[in-house]
Amino acid sequence: MIKNRISVIGTGYVGLVSGVCLGDFGNYIINADIDQEKIHELNNGIIPIYEPGLKEIYDRVVSQGRIVFTTDIEQAVENSKIIFIAVGTPPREDGSADLKHVLEVARSIARYMNESKVIVTKSTVPVGTGQLLTEIIEQELKRLDKEHSFEVVSNPEFLREGKAVYDFTHPDRIVIGTRSEEVKKLMQEVYRPLYLNNTPFLFTSTETAELIKYASNAFLATKISFINEISRLCEKLNANVKDVARGMGMDGRISPKFLHAGAGFGGSCFPKDTRALVSLAEANGLDMSIVQAAINTNEKQKLHMVDKVVEKMGDLTGKTIGVLGLSFKPETDDMREAPALTVLPELIKRGATIKAFDPEGIKEATWRLEEYKDHITYCGDEYEVMDGSHALVILTEWNQFRKLDLERMKNLLVAPYFFDFRNIYNREEAQEAGLIYTGVGMAEESLEEVNYLWQIYKDAAVTLDSGE
Ligand SMILES: NC(=O)c1ccc[n+]([C@@H]2O[C@H](COP(=O)([O-])OP(=O)(O)OC[C@H]3O[C@@H](n4cnc5c(N)ncnc54)[C@H](O)[C@@H]3O)[C@@H](O)[C@H]2O)c1
Repeated sequence: MIKNRISVIGTGYVGLVSGVCLGDFGNYIINADIDQEKIHELNNGIIPIYEPGLKEIYDRVVSQGRIVFTTDIEQAVENSKIIFIAVGTPPREDGSADLKHVLEVARSIARYMNESKVIVTKSTVPVGTGQLLTEIIEQELKRLDKEHSFEVVSNPEFLREGKAVYDFTHPDRIVIGTRSEEVKKLMQEVYRPLYLNNTPFLFTSTETAELIKYASNAFLATKISFINEISRLCEKLNANVKDVARGMGMDGRISPKFLHAGAGFGGSCFPKDTRALVSLAEANGLDMSIVQAAINTNEKQKLHMVDKVVEKMGDLTGKTIGVLGLSFKPETDDMREAPALTVLPELIKRGATIKAFDPEGIKEATWRLEEYKDHITYCGDEYEVMDGSHALVILTEWNQFRKLDLERMKNLLVAPYFFDFRNIYNREEAQEAGLIYTGVGMAEESLEEVNYLWQIYKDAAVTLDSGE
């Protein structure tokens, strides 16, 4: 029998990072999932996701015998005092959060409960889910004629993919939604190294804790949409959004974080959590117009990237567009709601074919963009993407895309269009290399300038061809 005292149900981005890091904090963990393949990999030294730094901690915690991976939910529940729920809460058609996995886990917990338990929701769940889980577990226990005491606690997770290990081990705060003094102490023990390190612990009601998570994500998403909207105005008014953001961010009340104009936000959290918050408010007769506007702006922003390409290049029929970056942000293989899933199909609909590269996202992209497979070639590196393409588009700012050899890029492209949709280059350096540069939220070259650069490029190509 496994003697661990904490179970983490779900071994996705949140569940696996939580399990491994809680193990590293000195706890004994049972990490359980219904996905047999994931558990098989985890039992054979393979991390199923790309998350920097996770493998090192996993190796350490596994070698210390502090974690086991299993598909046996019954064993996990029976052998733990504290059960973290970290399963997915994907969006339904209407934007609301689908709780089916969370409810399934809650029923399993009731089914296998053999003593008093503390049930902690780490999944992002609508306000009131803590209460709902309490009712469901009570009903199940009654139906099964069992009597056990339990507490449902909300402990939302704020980690960022790509920096998940750092965020889990260096959080700005730990939010715990519970009214029980005993549970507060128990949760402080679970997070003992953080508690000793003076990480702020915020104790609230479960409802408040649940709402803190949605409100935080909606606020950050709104900040991104805000600067993206300002970037559109910059393009019209000949201003530079990078400098606008810098100037705004110097104000301590604003802060420079989440003020980077780009191709729009994606990922498994912001899009779904903003929609879920709007839906939650609607269900309560309220109109979340600010958050709805952030969602609308984000959708427009992704399409605006395609318009920028067409505006510069004209008809895309027969043209090859090279794309760097497919994952929704750097340092992750996660492509859930990535801008690439809107931008690539839209470019293809307008007649383009795509050559693409991402350091970790190609496996995900291949099945998510399966429908467009005849129009996309996945390449082995950045320069293979450029070779023979009519333009290069940067969609995700992986570090390795920040120091491209621009001269080489110009020589590999068959037309010198460079769309830097994460604003990681300066127009001057791109122009010096003979590229026609387009960023986000900054003045464009005049048509005369583009024609002039284009002519230089063509002359250079002729010189090259004639071997002079
Ligand atoms: N990904 C993030 O950056 C992030 C950050 C903070 C919070 N969250 C929230 O955390 C939750 C999990 O997100 P994720 O990105 O880790 O999801 P994920 O899809 O990567 O992982 C979910 C896991 O749960 C497993 N699962 C589903 N039903 C199960 C069941 N009945 N029993 C056992 N396992 C089951 C799945 O097999 C999968 O491995 C979501 O609510 C999400 O909103 C995510």
